[in-house]
Amino acid sequence: MTHPPTRFGRPGRFRPLALACSLAAGALALPLLTPASTAMAAPSCTSTQDCLEQMTLEEKAGQMTQVNHTNVMDNPGDIAEYGIGSLLSGGGAGPGGQAGGTATEWADMYDDYQHHALQSRLGIPLIYGVDAVHGHNNVEGATIFPHNIGLGASQDMRLVQRVQDITRQEVLGTGIDWNFAPAVSVPRDDRWGRTYEGFGEVSWIPSILGEYAVRGLQGEELGADSVAATAKHYVADGGTAWGTGDSDYRIDQGDAQMSEAELRRVHLPPYRSAIRADVASIMVSFSSWNGLKMHQHDYLVTEVLKGELGFEGVVLSDWAGVRQVEGNSYAEKVRKAVNAGVDMIMVPDDYEQNISAIVDEVRAGRISQERIDDAVRRILDLKFEQELFGHPLTDRSYTDDVGSPEHRQVAREAVRKSQVLLKNDGVLPLSPTSGTEIVVGGKTADNLGYQLGGWSISWQGQGGDVTEGTTFWEAIQDETAGTGTDVRFVGTDTGSDYSGDIGIWVGGETPYAEGQGDDADLALSQADQRHLTDICARTEVCVAMLVSGRPLIINDALDTADAFVASWLPGTEGAGMTDVVFGHHDFTGRLPVTWPASVDQEPITIGDGQEPLFQMGYGLTP
Ligand code: GLC
Repeated sequence: MTHPPTRFGRPGRFRPLALACSLAAGALALPLLTPASTAMAAPSCTSTQDCLEQMTLEEKAGQMTQVNHTNVMDNPGDIAEYGIGSLLSGGGAGPGGQAGGTATEWADMYDDYQHHALQSRLGIPLIYGVDAVHGHNNVEGATIFPHNIGLGASQDMRLVQRVQDITRQEVLGTGIDWNFAPAVSVPRDDRWGRTYEGFGEVSWIPSILGEYAVRGLQGEELGADSVAATAKHYVADGGTAWGTGDSDYRIDQGDAQMSEAELRRVHLPPYRSAIRADVASIMVSFSSWNGLKMHQHDYLVTEVLKGELGFEGVVLSDWAGVRQVEGNSYAEKVRKAVNAGVDMIMVPDDYEQNISAIVDEVRAGRISQERIDDAVRRILDLKFEQELFGHPLTDRSYTDDVGSPEHRQVAREAVRKSQVLLKNDGVLPLSPTSGTEIVVGGKTADNLGYQLGGWSISWQGQGGDVTEGTTFWEAIQDETAGTGTDVRFVGTDTGSDYSGDIGIWVGGETPYAEGQGDDADLALSQADQRHLTDICARTEVCVAMLVSGRPLIINDALDTADAFVASWLPGTEGAGMTDVVFGHHDFTGRLPVTWPASVDQEPITIGDGQEPLFQMGYGLTP
């Protein structure tokens, strides 16, 4: 999540003039653009216990503090001065605070911040987090995979592990060492804007795929070539009730109103699996359980997660999640969160307030020293396990492979395995002969940004050529080149005079993330319906490709088209869609969610007694 600028937030252009002034003034702060030749200070502590014994209370509070990099971009000396333990790039917070940036620019940014951290009194390195939720999606030129709902449709756990292993490599290529992924949510209501971040609507899907995702990111054990994974958002983030959303959200960050038995049966199992895979961290959810915020839920976080499930990693707050905790002051809120079991606070801006609040609460006896030492021990153990003390800088051997053809081939395989064929009246696969006329239209057919969905270059995502990739329209031109097939693009200009043998419409949702995607109707837009109807009216047979983060209400569209494909949010490799449309590979995808016949059925899940349009598990293979 990237919030509007706060008192500390200064997202925006990097300001060389400010840097020049500080240098001219002989400021103590190292220049942000530290020359690579700067000799690295060696850390002054060599084990978790050694560090703990040397650390002051202020330094321990600093280790528990995670800051969005835009808040120290212009004053990086604060990293060492306050002993900040972690930075993150929230969605869209690339180098200079701008969305995007190349892998090398990210790696340079990471190394500069790390050099500052190593100047702290004990030289404890940073751990830097990012949301690489479908590939390293913040970075220009990175491979962007289908969002989790599409990977859920693939039913292929080894594929998920390979996808995450490539994500690991591309994240390491930018220096970053911590990924706030996989989401192991169990989305029960498709109106939730984060449905597409989940693998599926029943607990065994995220349990299996989440475990393989963790193994892909971390390897069999944490080390210098690992990226720390984060199972999120603990717990029952996908089980909240419509209308209980926080602030202006309708369901996101809402209240999961259910018995403990249901919470344990449906929403807890994916965390057991992630812990079995030795997941490094778990992020607590903004949501509540029966009225109590997860960020202050000591029973579920300390007694269940850390006690009963034996989680020994780092419990991380969500973005400013502490501020949603009940309390009359920030100090009271952060005390409740830390005492509930939260180890690191994603502030993400006012780090001075966070550090001083923790220090004051400990000195007042309202947070125990033991709790602080437990939190810092978990954080330092992670940094030592990832060998950050010995290898704090980017391993540039990974950087050149960001977005490589080999990586994109795996993404293309993931795309084709995610496609779910919902209807096929003898149309697919296409095998056009010379002279066949194919008409391609719809708002998404040649819009890479729509194909990517949210969490892509920017937090919310956006339309257009936002990064390097292949749209469906580009893919079909490659597919038909030299075959004598005549392909024509009509886009959304379906009023013009055209006809053809085969029509292909590509449409659906425009990008969104989190609560901004909460949707009461799940309706296909009237424009989409019109474009589809028009294309089908002017061609002999027509195919609909729905690009969306979740099921939409498609009854009419399903009647209009002769074939219908759920494409989900495929990512950069649109050729994975044409691979199955033209029969190079079979359709093998199966629905990881129940497809409603009406939005009035929501929440709808398998076995709830309702009659859906398509059952979870449905999918045709021609
Ligand atoms: C967001 C999301 C969380 C993400 C975090 C950092 O609010 O809830 O999934 O990891 O902020 O971007």
